[in-house]
Amino acid sequence: MKVLIVGKGGREHALSKIVKKSSLVTEVFIAPGNIGMKDIGTLVNVHEEDILNLVNFAEENKIDLTIVGPESSLSLGIVNEFEKRGLKIFGPTKESAMIETSKEYAKYIMGKYNIPTGKYRSFTEKEEAIKYLENQLLPIVIKEDGLKAGKGVTVAFSVEEAKEAVKKAFEIHENKIIIEEYLDGFEFSIIAIANENKIIPLEIAQDHKRIYDGDLGPNTGGMGVYSPVEKITKEVIDETVNKIMKPMLDGLIKEGTPFKGFLFGGIMLTKEGVKTIEFNARFGDPEAQGILPRLKSDFVKVILDILDKKETKLIWDKRKSLAVVMASSGYPDKYSIGEVVNIDGNIDGELYFMGVKEENKNIVTNGGRVLSLVCFGDTLEKAREKTYEEIKKINFKKMFFRNDIGLKMCYNSKNK
Ligand code: AMP
Ligand code: GLY
Repeated sequence: MKVLIVGKGGREHALSKIVKKSSLVTEVFIAPGNIGMKDIGTLVNVHEEDILNLVNFAEENKIDLTIVGPESSLSLGIVNEFEKRGLKIFGPTKESAMIETSKEYAKYIMGKYNIPTGKYRSFTEKEEAIKYLENQLLPIVIKEDGLKAGKGVTVAFSVEEAKEAVKKAFEIHENKIIIEEYLDGFEFSIIAIANENKIIPLEIAQDHKRIYDGDLGPNTGGMGVYSPVEKITKEVIDETVNKIMKPMLDGLIKEGTPFKGFLFGGIMLTKEGVKTIEFNARFGDPEAQGILPRLKSDFVKVILDILDKKETKLIWDKRKSLAVVMASSGYPDKYSIGEVVNIDGNIDGELYFMGVKEENKNIVTNGGRVLSLVCFGDTLEKAREKTYEEIKKINFKKMFFRNDIGLKMCYNSKNK
């Protein structure tokens, strides 16, 4: 089989690597990929948002299966276009991807199908939103609508901070925002391989969204993960699947937009049980780097099985994984690019390239999140020690990473 992976970050690197391991796969193509993935597959010089050229490439090269990484390609209707031409693709249509692309739509669906989530109100008028903030409990969460790569969310601990976030959202970014109840608890990510009402949940991970140690500073796309998450029991996972993931799939069927692809739930385990923070219509990044290397089953076969609605049981590596993201200093705001990435010696772990490009035969930084390193151990602590030991072999100017991934697992509490 020839498989095409769409995207260019760490998530797509992890997807490409596990696809390449499949006994069913003869050739892997990555569009556009990045230079760090060149040994896994053929890099195709077509941008992930250039849907027309992607579909033309797949048709001309007789691609048997395409797997979509980024939400931007999904929101532009890559799946709709591939399916119009009769090409097999794993991902949701742009209509079902709206559970990620519009926070308001996601909230509407959750309300309609009784999926637990925080109370919210949406606003299109700045003054009205500011007035509403006067008598709300703190902390409170301000979210810009639309795709924000995890960065359009402010958890405000004072009314002033909340008002600033509202002003910024209206003045700089958007004309619609959501103000949401703060959910206090333990956050985790669950990703399921899904097709209509069929669901195969993967082992879960915990991301670290804030930029600084101790869960301080602004939200990012994710600074590191570990998997599995021992604090989350099988009962909690079952509750999440039964009260959140399955009802969303059933709801989307009822809405006439059945979901196919990676269904990602950002979940908070609160005192009242699990609640949804957000849905994404794709794999997480860096969740993919933490979860996929632990999957021993043939990933492509699993995807083909779910497309055929066959039952599949997954086999997992018992070891724990821990991934640390190396970013360019300044991220998630302004940062510089073009710094040479140096790797000294062999790394005992898996290195995934996120924002990099080739310049004068060097790999140089080309994004806020540059690399992620994943190591393994019989315990989380061993995986952690190993990752932080191996990370010493990697450097680039202005490299920045969190030192506390997997260390304290419950920062997300207003009592921190
Ligand atoms: P989102 O882009 O909606 O996932 O939000 C980014 C991050 O902000 C989440 O991963 C949470 O850590 C935090 N967050 C978002 N919404 C809430 C909420 N209602 N209560 C507490 N934290 C939240
Ligand atoms: N790491 C969170 C995300 O991919 O949205």
